[in-house]
Amino acid sequence: MHTTTLGRTGLRVSVAGLGCGGFSRLGLSTGKTAAEATALVRLAIDSGITLIDTAAQYGTEEIVGEAIRHVPRDSVVLATKCLTVLDGAPTTAARLAESIEASLRALGTDYIDVFQLHGVSPERYDRAMTDLLPELIRAREAGKIRFLGITESGGNDRSHTMLQQAVTDGVWDVGMVAFNMLHRTASDHLFPATQAAGVGTLVMHAVRSIFARPDFLAASIRELAATGVVPARLAASDAPLDFLVHAGGAASVTEAAYRFARHSAGVDVVLFGTGSADHLRANIESLNRPPLPAADLAELLDLFGNVSGLGLESPKS
Ligand SMILES: NC(=O)c1ccc[n+]([C@@H]2O[C@H](COP(=O)([O-])OP(=O)(O)OC[C@H]3O[C@@H](n4cnc5c(N)ncnc54)[C@H](OP(=O)(O)O)[C@@H]3O)[C@@H](O)[C@H]2O)c1
Repeated sequence: MHTTTLGRTGLRVSVAGLGCGGFSRLGLSTGKTAAEATALVRLAIDSGITLIDTAAQYGTEEIVGEAIRHVPRDSVVLATKCLTVLDGAPTTAARLAESIEASLRALGTDYIDVFQLHGVSPERYDRAMTDLLPELIRAREAGKIRFLGITESGGNDRSHTMLQQAVTDGVWDVGMVAFNMLHRTASDHLFPATQAAGVGTLVMHAVRSIFARPDFLAASIRELAATGVVPARLAASDAPLDFLVHAGGAASVTEAAYRFARHSAGVDVVLFGTGSADHLRANIESLNRPPLPAADLAELLDLFGNVSGLGLESPKS
């Protein structure tokens, strides 16, 4: 397993991070049992994954806690989160403190490596700074959390407004960013700043639905072709990204998407969520493979250079 340093935290982590939320929630969303989900986390650890991302909201913290019970605590880096709106009201410092305690109990640990504010929109950021940051600092001083993180709200913040501000404020050690082959805005508008400030980055939405569902990808590209954002000829294709799949290139579009994210400058860890042991193994293999061929990257840019904001949502059913 390839490893990297998570920005100024100095933590050495696997480049592949197990996401315990997303559409899969370790398979719980698609009917897997808690025991199966626990086995999946154990498989991830046995396969060399050392960064695990969960959240109070996902309902997977206890599963992670059970899975790590038999491994040395310092062999894994645990990241979890609390929303900044709970039950329709802005989260208070007291509720954040309760959430931290609840996460510690559920994870069965006495410290959390990276505690993140979850899905913070640009509009909610200032309030989070005034109401919640002091409590996070208290928890850090008490040894309950080691590093502070903040995650953006994907589809609602396509130009990374919140994280741009957060990097400037200098208090956040880690940021979670939406980034993929058809949403590369962070490369120009965020990663130069995170790199300069030493803010560690966790990438979400590298694959999500669009690069796992060929029908959704083709339909999304057709919409773009209809509005002239990409060449019209792409509308006729059921597999508009299949030029990436060839001997010497990627074995699948899904693999290409993981490799693209993994090797983009400024990306530390690529998160993936899955309920499938086969997908877990395949994703680790993809993330350990080299960058996509330069000619494929050039064609991607040529065809889709004007595209952003794709792959953040699920398909309309
Ligand atoms: N704002 C936030 O803080 C926020 C928001 C979203 C996500 N996250 C974090 O980021 C993590 C990743 O989430 P994500 O949004 O990037 O989506 P994701 O949950 O990683 O989505 C991947 C999807 O593709 C499928 N998949 C995975 N590997 C595959 C493969 N090799 N072949 C085909 N299908 C595959 C998965 O389903 P299967 O079960 O079938 O594999 C899943 O539905 C989450 O778990 C969470 O930790 C954070």
